[in-house]
Amino acid sequence: MTTTAAAPQLPVDVRRFAFRQGPGKGHLGEQNLVDDGAPTTSALPPRWARSDSGRPLPLGTHELLAGLPYPAPGRAAATPDPLGHLLVTAFGLQRREPSHRYADHRSVASGRAKFPVHAFLAQGPSVRYLDVYRHALVDLAPPGGAPAPAAAEGASVLLAARYSDLPAAYGRMRYAVTEVELGVNLRSLCVAADLFGVPARLDLDGRSTAAAEAVVRSAGPGTWSAPLAVRLDLPDGPAASTALPGPSLDGPDRRDPLLETADESVRDAVAVSAQRHGLPQTLSVPAHGLPAAGPEAAAGSPATGPDWARVLWDRSAGRAPDQLYGFAMRPAAVGEDTLADLLAWATQPPPDRLLARVAARVRLSVAVQRVGGLAPGVHRFEAGGLTLHRRQPRIMAELQPGFAQQPSPNTDSGMRHAALVWVHSVDVDALLDEFGPAALGLLQLHLGWSVHGLCLGAAAHRLVARPARSFVEYHLQPLLGLGRKETPVFMTVCGTSRFTEPMLDLRT
Ligand SMILES: Cc1cc2nc3c(=O)[nH]c(=O)nc-3n(C[C@H](O)[C@H](O)[C@H](O)COP(=O)(O)O)c2cc1C
Repeated sequence: MTTTAAAPQLPVDVRRFAFRQGPGKGHLGEQNLVDDGAPTTSALPPRWARSDSGRPLPLGTHELLAGLPYPAPGRAAATPDPLGHLLVTAFGLQRREPSHRYADHRSVASGRAKFPVHAFLAQGPSVRYLDVYRHALVDLAPPGGAPAPAAAEGASVLLAARYSDLPAAYGRMRYAVTEVELGVNLRSLCVAADLFGVPARLDLDGRSTAAAEAVVRSAGPGTWSAPLAVRLDLPDGPAASTALPGPSLDGPDRRDPLLETADESVRDAVAVSAQRHGLPQTLSVPAHGLPAAGPEAAAGSPATGPDWARVLWDRSAGRAPDQLYGFAMRPAAVGEDTLADLLAWATQPPPDRLLARVAARVRLSVAVQRVGGLAPGVHRFEAGGLTLHRRQPRIMAELQPGFAQQPSPNTDSGMRHAALVWVHSVDVDALLDEFGPAALGLLQLHLGWSVHGLCLGAAAHRLVARPARSFVEYHLQPLLGLGRKETPVFMTVCGTSRFTEPMLDLRT
């Protein structure tokens, strides 16, 4: 193992930073009310990624996915554009829900559906930005000429999160949400690569991160996280650029000044994220998003079970009518095969040796009610299986006050009816002692990786899965039987939705 780059100086105490957006947020006044009307840069393409040329994405991705049974897809139908279909599968638009507070939904969950993670495709001298609303890979056209060339051979998808896409009231919490979403999008990309049979590798070392950052910076002003670079093994080079259809976006936008926003909390987030620049180069491993070992066709035989088009369409963090916040659930029994399938998704190690070592320090607990013959209460994932830690018939009702958004005239919370509440927890101090300050970011990447797996598994079994970063740590800790130093760092609430409605199909 050789170190390729020095970690940049850290002008912020990473433990205090983690505490301020974790257990300390209530005490330290870091949990602000979020005004959904406050402007953000969400869905705004970077300044030099609005050109009129690029490469249109292919049509018919969901039709191809409809031919792939869940969970093991077999061979994807041969297509002339596996890369295009892969990107649409991983990041594309799915549906518009008229009653939803945040109407448009994609393959991935995102805090308040702000989608702060952006994808770039770098192939040799060609750098393009994935614009899901234009359904195109748009040529980067910086004013000084060509964008920074990609360092790696072949094709790399670069994922970077932009802090100004989230409401400023999130403060330091923007760090955790965006880094977790990098993990979510990484998993989504790796699942899509598996579905289309494209080998993928994550280059997490500092040198690859720096090269990717140069590319992202050439997209124009913006305050970004450290990027992730995922290499895709594709036979073809970049397709030639063509004129893109539709009205030109090539020009300034009234929200451009917000791209320059960098308050103190963003500066801290940038500094902590940049710790990934100091990661050593290790031998990369194949990045598989699908679980290596899971129950065979847990949701049915390949002939009767869901297909991948349906799984992505059904992936939902839950719904509520009349633009209420939150999610409505109803009590419903869940089979043990569902639990086993979700467990396989959640515990598939992330695709990097160091990341997997960090992941191994994180405890996964699941609170259950009405799940097969399992005792209601808290179970822990230990030695490859679940063990009952605390029998508690009223566990969900007890957990509910620990969710940040409580039932109120403008909010529904169905947590008390959830079948499964997954909680990731870790001793953050011990993790930082063992792996250094970059471990905080690695932790978030693992959380996103694991949680997106839960979201897909839940969708396959017609459950909704609400990822949540905003909860009361001190409320959850004793209910889950965690030690004083062990902090809950993410929560995913799974159950059966009480509300549904006709939806507008945004797939192409
Ligand atoms: C990293 C992350 C953090 C989130 N945190 C919360 C949260 O604290 N509370 C909540 O109610 N929803 C949370 N969500 C869920 C989003 O609000 C939800 O994904 C979004 O509204 C889009 O809906 P959809 O997932 O059904 O497409 C989070 C999602 C992600 C990916």
